[in-house]
Amino acid sequence: MNDTLRHELTFLRDLGFTHLDIPKITVATTAVEDSDGKSLLAELQAIASVCVKCKLAKTRTQVVYGVGSPNADLMFIGEAPGRDEDEKGEPFVGRAGQLLTDIIKAMKLTRDDVYIANVVKCRPPENRNPDPEELDACRPYIRRQVEIIQPKVIVTLGKFALQSLTEKSYGITATRGHWLEYNGVKVMPTYHPAYLLRTPSAKKDVWNDMKLVMAELGMTTSS
Ligand code: URA
Repeated sequence: MNDTLRHELTFLRDLGFTHLDIPKITVATTAVEDSDGKSLLAELQAIASVCVKCKLAKTRTQVVYGVGSPNADLMFIGEAPGRDEDEKGEPFVGRAGQLLTDIIKAMKLTRDDVYIANVVKCRPPENRNPDPEELDACRPYIRRQVEIIQPKVIVTLGKFALQSLTEKSYGITATRGHWLEYNGVKVMPTYHPAYLLRTPSAKKDVWNDMKLVMAELGMTTSS
C-alpha cells in the first residue's frame, strides 16, 4: 500500500468509517499521488459537506469548510462559524471576519493568498463554545486540510483553535507571540478577532505576532 492510500484510509478511519463498500474496482488511470491540493481539498469538502458525526449537523444551515489558496504558505485557523458564516458558507465573513480580513490586508496579503478554516465546521447554536465531542468529531478535517495544504506557518485564532488542532491544553495568554509546532509546521497562537472587537487594546499584540509571522515567511515588515 502506498503512503497516499494509507493516509486516505487512516483519515477515513479517523472519521469513523469501519468498512468501505466498493461495488466495482476500476483501475485508476491517474495515480493518487498526482492529485493536486485543489482536488484533494475538493474531495475532502465533498465528504465534509454531508458530515453527520456530531449534533451540529442537525442545526447547521451548511458546512463551512474553508477558503483560500490550496498552496498557501500561511493558514489562519479559527474556532467555529457564526451566524453570518453559517448563512454564507464561508469562514470569517461577519464582524470578526472583517477584522481578520483587515489584518490580512495589513500584512499586504489578500484572503486568496492565504487559507482560512475553522476547527469546527458547523455553527454551534447561539454561538456557544464548541463542546469536546464536537471538537473531537471535527478534528480530522482540519488536520487533513493542514496535511494537504502544507503551509509554512499556521496562525491559530484563540484558545479553541490552538487546543483542538494540537490536542494540548495550551493557554492563549501564555503562548501568544511564541512559536509552537504542529506536525512539523510552525504555529503562532494569537488572539481571536472577536476578542479584539471587545478589547481593541489587544490589537497591538496581534500585530506584533503577525510581524513575527511575516518575518518567518520572508516578508518585509515596515511598521
Ligand atoms: N469566528 C470563528 O472562529 N470562525 C469564523 O468563521 C467566524 C467567527
